[in-house]
Amino acid sequence: MTQDLRIGIIGVGMMGADHAERVARRISGARLVAVSDPDTARAATLAATLGGALDGSPGAAPDGRLGGVRVVEDPLALIGDAEVDAVIIASPGFAHAEQLMACLEHGKPVLCEKPLTMDTESSLRVVEAEHKVGRSLIQVGFMRRFDPEYARLKQLLDSGELGRTLLLHNVHRNKTVAPTFRSEMIVRDSLVHEVDVARWLFGDEITRITVHAPKPTSLVGEGVLDPQLAVFEMAGGAMADVEVFVNFQVGYEVRCEAVAERGSATIGLGVDVLTRQAGHWGGAVPDDFRVRFGLAYDIEVQRWVNAAARGEIDGPTAWDGYAAAAVCTAGVQSLQEGRPVAVEMVSRSEVFG
Ligand SMILES: NC(=O)c1ccc[n+]([C@@H]2O[C@H](COP(=O)([O-])OP(=O)(O)OC[C@H]3O[C@@H](n4cnc5c(N)ncnc54)[C@H](O)[C@@H]3O)[C@@H](O)[C@H]2O)c1
Repeated sequence: MTQDLRIGIIGVGMMGADHAERVARRISGARLVAVSDPDTARAATLAATLGGALDGSPGAAPDGRLGGVRVVEDPLALIGDAEVDAVIIASPGFAHAEQLMACLEHGKPVLCEKPLTMDTESSLRVVEAEHKVGRSLIQVGFMRRFDPEYARLKQLLDSGELGRTLLLHNVHRNKTVAPTFRSEMIVRDSLVHEVDVARWLFGDEITRITVHAPKPTSLVGEGVLDPQLAVFEMAGGAMADVEVFVNFQVGYEVRCEAVAERGSATIGLGVDVLTRQAGHWGGAVPDDFRVRFGLAYDIEVQRWVNAAARGEIDGPTAWDGYAAAAVCTAGVQSLQEGRPVAVEMVSRSEVFG
């Protein structure tokens, strides 16, 4: 295929707008052609900005096109649009199931931001529907797998140089989140990344999860359990612990230390430029994930575009999204009931034979 892959983006809030900018300006072999968002003014402003960047004309054209990027109000119409080859879903999680099913119906490759869907059952229905289509169309936006530091850690652990991996210690902190970000969302929207990291680094499923709620910070609304401390038990007996703290106040930090039989390896120390100034030395803590994982998102989207052009995917699958949903469902139950909860999943052979 020599023509650019024509991409439509659904949901252009924080993540979707970031992807739109990425596709329009940095990704090769792809062209942003349409955006959809119930906030049509936001979609139109973005389309005008990026459409202008594409063809040099900032304003609306008479046929409703804004530069090179159209606003399509109905997300399902964007998916069915004959001029859209592939879709990025960056709408809120509750909208993913219907939009993913529409992508499958139209045979369109889709990069869906995590979570795949909001619960285990609907995620399994998506996995089954894709299996019926007979080819892999869905890639899930677990971008850490594309982060150069995580990728090197995975390579080192898989090489066997350090022996078998026994433990992972993870830290995941945000500066602040919206007051609407409740305790369960800390599991489903934040911890979900470590769920995928643990499954990926160990190459194994999580069978049991415990989510503890230590004394909460006083800097969040009543009833929000922040920070949280999770423990994953893997099928093969290894374990991972995770501190998730989404109102840490300082900035965005993600660290992972793998402990193996003959050594350990740590990523995410954030050692970039160290300064010495006014009696202090130190470096910068990024404000949010778009800075820390900017390169990971670029690599993720470029590899997805390259793969989609070949009719393939190149990253976490719908099954990975389903497994993460199952673990998070058990995690929310553990948080509510204060006890370890077994993860309930069907086996791969039940779906794929
Ligand atoms: N991979 C990551 O690191 C990462 C980081 C942040 C967010 N996300 C995921 O990206 C998605 C979007 O998150 P966000 O932070 O950008 O949220 P956001 O609230 O900033 O943006 C969501 C956008 O979707 C629009 N929207 C609402 N309902 C819609 C619908 N039915 N169809 C289409 N658009 C709709 C909203 O108007 C808004 O513009 C979520 O699934 C979230 O979990 C992933």
